[in-house]
Amino acid sequence: MKLIIINGPNLNLLGIRETSIYGKQSFEEYFEKLQKEFTEVTLHYFQSNHEGELIDKLHEVGFSYDGIVLNAGAYTHTSVAIADAIAAIETPTIEVHISNVHKREAFRRHSYLSANCAGLIVGLGLKGYDLAIGYFLKK
Ligand code: DQA
Repeated sequence: MKLIIINGPNLNLLGIRETSIYGKQSFEEYFEKLQKEFTEVTLHYFQSNHEGELIDKLHEVGFSYDGIVLNAGAYTHTSVAIADAIAAIETPTIEVHISNVHKREAFRRHSYLSANCAGLIVGLGLKGYDLAIGYFLKK
């Protein structure tokens, strides 16, 4: 089983950025915990602040991996191109948001990506990534 977590813009600042919303843990630290927890999975991680790089990564993994866990950050609310990339590939994608986007500004309530994803996990903190991996494992 080969899975990848793809994080979009500003998520490289987890642990530093708006900690009251996103928490105090860095993603690198959390990712180490995930790797120890899911030893039966080949788990990769990619982060970029650039839309095209996120699309390139989706194309690269989207025909050979078993699952993609995607937090596209603010591109969720703006990117038709990432939505098209998810539709174009074969690997199922789960959309994750750390915060409950429905409790926040109105513009965060719309996702261009959701309709092309296998499912969504929203508002459960970093635990959402755990749950998404668990879904792929038990599928
Ligand atoms: C986010 C929610 C987005 O609205 C925001 O732009 C992010 C993070 C989340 O994980 O809660 O960068 O995707």
